[in-house]
Amino acid sequence: MTSAAAGALVDQAFADRRLFKMALARRPGGPAEARSRYAGETSPPLLLVEAPAGVGIEALLAEIDALAETCSAGTNLILLGTLNDVTLYRNLLRQGVADYLVLPAPPMRLIEAILDLYRDAGKRPAGQVIAFIGAKGGCGNTTLACHVGHQLAHQTQADVVVADLDLPFGGADLAFNLEAPVGVQSILNDPERIDESFLQRFSGKVAEHLYLLAAPGSAEVDAAVSGVALETCVAALRQQAGYVILDLPRVWSDWVRQALITADHVVVTAIPDLVAVRNTRNMLDLLVTSRALDQPPTLVLNRLGAARRGEVTIRDFAAAVRFAPTLTIAEEPQGLGLATSLGKMVHEVQRGSKAALAIRALAARFVSAPPPRPGHAAAGSGTATAPGWLARLLAKG
Ligand SMILES: Nc1ncnc2c1ncn2[C@@H]1O[C@H](COP(=O)(O)OP(=O)(O)OP(=O)(O)O)[C@@H](O)[C@H]1O
Ligand SMILES: [Mg+2]
Repeated sequence: MTSAAAGALVDQAFADRRLFKMALARRPGGPAEARSRYAGETSPPLLLVEAPAGVGIEALLAEIDALAETCSAGTNLILLGTLNDVTLYRNLLRQGVADYLVLPAPPMRLIEAILDLYRDAGKRPAGQVIAFIGAKGGCGNTTLACHVGHQLAHQTQADVVVADLDLPFGGADLAFNLEAPVGVQSILNDPERIDESFLQRFSGKVAEHLYLLAAPGSAEVDAAVSGVALETCVAALRQQAGYVILDLPRVWSDWVRQALITADHVVVTAIPDLVAVRNTRNMLDLLVTSRALDQPPTLVLNRLGAARRGEVTIRDFAAAVRFAPTLTIAEEPQGLGLATSLGKMVHEVQRGSKAALAIRALAARFVSAPPPRPGHAAAGSGTATAPGWLARLLAKG
């Protein structure tokens, strides 16, 4: 890399969750420098090279040809440059270059180009991961996670898995009024067991297309979850279900932060009081900076009107957290409150209630979201599914 534009593009792309696990080594120079470097050492699986400024099309193609000769067969090349020319692009692809990005390019364009190399064409598209976290105990986070899961299964007819990750105190089984096997722990202990039939074996079926991986809900169980095991599980779950809903406990540890940062969408559930304001602000600050290329998190301000005194107004809440709530839901003892105590969904108890409508709208946000891109796990594995530069050239005969 030589130019500031290329450097900034690469920095932004590699700071994103989708490329989290890829190690980046930056070296000065362009194709010529890369060529002399890899004449003496094995080239990496992925090479991002910037075309030198001012070089013409013919000269650039010749440089890329020469670089190809020194790189190993498994190396994929993505070229960055300022020449915006369709003939150049076509010729580069013909030469086996995986992609050519015209600078300045949006970071997502580079991320997509890299993920494309790791995409497994044989696999079905991965499901979306939606992480729910409460800003404070009792915000209604589990209630909302379960209701959104229920709605998504109903609205999309795709399989939805709700994973209750609050191991000692999780209450998703109560919200669904379901005696489910303690599936979360089984798969966290042994993620290898997630296969085509795991939903039948480890989860409880709540409704058509809706499955619950229940928490043990026992004081004898530790709250800690292994980040590595969770990542493996979530990657496997996304291959099996259209939506994976994570009901996260409000413990601020590495594995929870990792689950939040790597999810496709994040929902923060809060209530209008001062502690929730402070916690929401801290959470949103972290989420907004570490997910800079994603849609902002969804903020639900729940249980409005529940406190007799000292409630923070919606306006003050938004000003204090510097973020407007996406949705507000009033305290509804005869709606959501009653539904939980009956182990039912609010749609079954009070179909037309404001809470029921709000939850339908909340779920709909994820239905209209662009199709998820598979692959942060795959990208992290370091093995490209694309054949590599020389291999592609040889295949062309
Ligand atoms: N809008 C609402 N109106 C009335 N009751 C509500 C509302 N939202 C949630 N509740 C009730 O609040 C209680 C706590 O909800 P829930 O268990 O979902 O909260 P949580 O944030 O997951 O709590 P925890 O911190 O224990 O995980 C439940 O009894 C639920 O029915
Ligand atoms: Mg909960």
